[in-house]
Order: sequence, then C-alpha cells, then structure tokens
Amino acid sequence: MPILTLIYLLASVSFIAGLKMLSHPATARRGNLIAAAGMFLAIVGTIFGYHDEAGRSLGNYGWIFGGILIGAVIGAVSAKKVKMTSMPEMVSLFNGMGGACAALISIVEFNHLAKAPHGDLGAELLIILAGLLIGTVSFTGSMVAWGKLNGRVKDFAFPGQHYINMIVLLAAVVMGGWMVTHSLVSSPLFYTILVLSVVYGLFFVLPIGGADMPVVISILNSFTGVAAACGGFLYDNKAMLTGGILVGAAGTLLTILMCKAMNRSLLNVLIGSFGGNKTGAAGTSAQGAYKEITLSDAAVVLAYANKVMIVPGYGLAVAQAQHVCHELEKLLTSRGVDVKYAIHPVAGRMPGHMNVLLAEADVAYENLLEMEQANEEFPTVDVVMVLGANDVVNPAAKNDKSSPIYGMPILDVELARNCIVNKRSMKPGYAGIENELFFSPRTSMLFGDAKKVLQDLVAEIKNT
Ligand code: TAP
Repeated sequence: MPILTLIYLLASVSFIAGLKMLSHPATARRGNLIAAAGMFLAIVGTIFGYHDEAGRSLGNYGWIFGGILIGAVIGAVSAKKVKMTSMPEMVSLFNGMGGACAALISIVEFNHLAKAPHGDLGAELLIILAGLLIGTVSFTGSMVAWGKLNGRVKDFAFPGQHYINMIVLLAAVVMGGWMVTHSLVSSPLFYTILVLSVVYGLFFVLPIGGADMPVVISILNSFTGVAAACGGFLYDNKAMLTGGILVGAAGTLLTILMCKAMNRSLLNVLIGSFGGNKTGAAGTSAQGAYKEITLSDAAVVLAYANKVMIVPGYGLAVAQAQHVCHELEKLLTSRGVDVKYAIHPVAGRMPGHMNVLLAEADVAYENLLEMEQANEEFPTVDVVMVLGANDVVNPAAKNDKSSPIYGMPILDVELARNCIVNKRSMKPGYAGIENELFFSPRTSMLFGDAKKVLQDLVAEIKNT
C-alpha cells in the first residue's frame, strides 16, 4: 500500500476515534488531540508525499508554509483569548473559513477545467458546482451568524423573503444542472451561480432570530463538511473525504438533537422567528409580586438542607462563576448536604455549554444529572438553586400555548420544596419572555451577579 494511502487511512481512523471520544467530557480533550494529530499527519503527508501522474510533487512550499504559519498564529491566539460565552461566535467564524476554502477550491478547479476542457465533464462539474454552492452559502451564512451573535448585524426580513430565497436557490440549481447535463464549462454561468449563492447565504440567515443562531451554525457546519467532502472527491483525497463526511454527519445530528431539545422542527427554526425581535418583551409588566431572600437567609436554607439541586444557566457562564459554584458545592457536601447539578440540554448558548463550563471547574461528571433524571428528583429536593438560568426553567413551556417556548421540555424546578433564583434583575432571558416561576410562592429571588453572590454565600455558610 502506498505510504500516502496509509497516512490517509490512519488520519481517517483518528478522526473517527477522536469524534467518538468527544462524546464524553472525560475523554473529549484527548479525542480532540487525537483527531488533530491525524489532521497534522494528513497535511504533512499531502505536502511531502503527494506526486501527480508525472511524478511532480506539490512545490509552492513558500506559499503553503506562509499560509500555515499565518493561519496557525491567528487560530491559536484567538482560541486562547476567546471567552467561553463567545465560543459560538468563534465556531461560526472558523466554520465560515472552511466554507470559503471549499468554494475557493471549486473556483480554482473550474478555471483549470476551463483552460483544458476534456471529454465528459459532467461528474467533475457536478462536484465543483456542489462545492461552490454549498461552500459559499456556508461562508456567507456563517459570517452573518457571527455578526448577529456579536451584535454587529441586526435581524432583517422583508415580506416574501422565503419565496425569494427559494427562487434564488432554484435558479442556481437549474443553472448548475444545465452545465452538468451539457458538460458546459461556462464562466458567466459559473460566476452567476457564485453570486446567487452569496445572495442565498445572506438571505437565508438574516431573518433568523438570535436564540436560534446555534442551530443555524450547526446546519452551516454540516454544509461546510459536505463542501469539504466535495473537495475530497475532486482531489481523490480520502482523508479530506472522510473528514468532510464526518463533519457533515455530525453537524446534521447535532442540529436534530438541538431541535429535539427545544421541541421545534427544523423548518420552524428556519422560517420562525423565535428569539428575534425581542423588543417590547423586556418592558412587559411583572405578573405580580415576587419574594426576595437575603444572603444570610439563603445561606441558612442551603446549609440546613438535605438535598440541593443547582441549575446552571447562561448567566453563570457570563459571570464566570463556575469555580466558586464548585466551591459552594464542596462546602455544602462537607456539611452532609447531597448536592447535584441539573443540566438542561440547551442551557447556555451552545450544546454542552454547561457540561464544558462545569468540567473546567473540576465538577465530577457523576454529579451532573440530565434533564429527565433531574426532573424525577425535583419532588424530593429541598432547595433548587437556579444560577443565571431563565428560559430552561420557565413553566410557560408547559402551561402557556401562546408562549414562543411552548413545548420545549424544561427543568421542573417548581416541584422542589424551595427555589432560590439568582439573577441580576427581573429582565427576561434569551427568548424575551416573562417567567412565572419567579412569582411562585415557593420561589425567592436572590439578586446580584452570580459570581459575587456565590462568593458571599460561601463566606456566609462558612460562618453559619
Ligand atoms: P437565559 O434564558 O438566556 O437566561 C439567562 C439569565 O441569566 C438571564 O435572565 C439573565 O438575567 C441572567 N444573567 C445574565 N448575566 C448574569 C450574571 N452575571 N449573574 C447572574 N445572572 C445573570 O438562559 P438559559 O436559561 O440558560 O436558557 C438558554 C436559552 O438559549 C434558551 O432560550 C435556549 O433555547 C437558547 N438556546 C440555547 C442553545 C444551546 S444549544 N445551548 C441553542 C439555541 C438556543 P439578568 O439580566 O436579570 O441578570
């Protein structure tokens, strides 16, 4: 077996093993390193081991290593600096770069074909055009998603937008189909398809609301995978093909899982506007009176409880309060309290956000309960401590048919004997809606930044 084929096989195996290991927090770090090592091997193998039919190697080493150096520095610095809460933004940006690469490959290969057309080009054109369309949509869509997540781009929709999107996409597909079936290497048609793909990518993501962005990013991620797989076909590169297919499949599965966790269809995410246009919701009047609890009372309630359940949410991540939260857990455990965490599948702003955050603070995995498990335990819990979570504990998802989150499975914290909610104000969460939990007789509000409140609670419990 030629050495390069062996390298690609090894790289493909490392991608699959790495991906499998990513499914558990205990092995995720190692899985990531194994897949990265496989990718490194594939890149080095291609640069030095590839030879064309005439026996020529790749050459262009200055360009290749220059690009690698610039990319590696930008990637490493931004990955080091990024805040946990900005992770979806970064994923989106990097994903867009993958889409752009796939589209650039298609442009380069189309130009090669245009210079030296040969025989029946249908299959080759099909792959080039699929890479162009999918890669470009992924690039422009990801850039819009990135802009929306960091607040630079606002939601934008006009009447009939979905129909126009469909027409634009259909026009690109028909033109591409024409080129493929007629083996037509036409530059004007090719670049028109490029422009239509840019327009489609922009119009596809612009109207979608902010809270749905992680789902959109996941779909775009799977697009990039498919576009990269087209590159793998084109160059007969097995590692690129396997990597692309894995990304495509993983992105699709993740999209399905996220939609399930929010109990929404993909179509509803793509044409609905949940989480968009939140104006007005923050101003709606409160539903009644809510109770506040003082820090010292909260400390007593927690310290003398038998069973405490912590519900982390986006606010905990923003406050970077995971370490002090673990400290509180250890302190309570040392006093004989049974402490567990209830993890909602879409708590935070990306899949697994809470698991990663708590793992970073060395919280034991066996103390993290999934939603179904936690819901079974709530009736036996003395105190639920909600830390910067809102939508994922909103009973409107069960009781209010008119609510945008109606049907989303939630954590049934209202079944516990007491519920302490920590947030900074009565403002709504991401879906932009009121939460009747805050007005329940069993709920007490503990206002303040999660990190500060937890630090004070720890100090207070130590004195209790
Ligand atoms: P949210 O509903 O967004 O609520 C977070 C709460 O944290 C806010 O109400 C905010 O209230 C509070 N907060 C902010 N900063 C804080 C701080 N420094 N200290 C204490 N509290 C703070 O979060 P959630 O319950 O985790 O729900 C996640 C939302 O994102 C859901 O709507 C979900 O559908 C959506 N979403 C998630 C995903 C994934 S995969 N995770 C994907 C798509 C959509 P104050 O401003 O009053 O402090």
